[in-house]
Amino acid sequence: MKRYVVLISGRGSNMASLLDASASGRLPASPAAVISSKPEAEGLRAARNAGVETRVVDPARFPSRAAFDDALAGTIDAFSPDLVILAGFMRILGNDFVRRFAGRLINIHPSLLPAFPGLNTHRRALAEGVRFHGCTVHFVTPDLDHGPIIAQAVVPVFDDDIEASLSARVLEKEHLVLPQAVAWFVEDRLTVVEGRVRLDASR
Ligand code: GRF
Repeated sequence: MKRYVVLISGRGSNMASLLDASASGRLPASPAAVISSKPEAEGLRAARNAGVETRVVDPARFPSRAAFDDALAGTIDAFSPDLVILAGFMRILGNDFVRRFAGRLINIHPSLLPAFPGLNTHRRALAEGVRFHGCTVHFVTPDLDHGPIIAQAVVPVFDDDIEASLSARVLEKEHLVLPQAVAWFVEDRLTVVEGRVRLDASR
């Protein structure tokens, strides 16, 4: 069975959705490890409770971004995963790191990319008055929050929405779309053709 490593920095609810999907058999892949950039990340406890190996690679302990990226890559490689999933991982990774894991590095972002890359996506969506918002799972390329799109989910934006209500509505979709995208990956159903992801629908 293929194995994945999840990188987190906080709450880890997307990571938990992956562990649940693996445990229930909806996701035919197993978690090799959960790695956090923050020692106090809430998600670490959930991962340990689920019996998954955890590691912390704290950027504060490295002299440069490159040194951090190297240590992170080494920690990941020790588990030899088929796939590396950024799920609420709040660090920008350098080009060398991205190249090293190219084609097997995916990210979940809380907006309908290419709209609203970066931070505070829900606040910015409300400020723009968009009627629809959502989330995107994509292959990671050196450009921030950019790269071939594997899956997206859309939610309506209501007049009385505030950041908290909108983010909760999007998060519910994230928890569905991420395990689905990872399942497609581990089933070898995804190919990238001229920057667009094709899903093999014959299976
Ligand atoms: C999610 O909205 C994810 O899309 C974004 O950060 C949030 C992390 O939430 N990148 P969690 O840690 O998975 O609960």
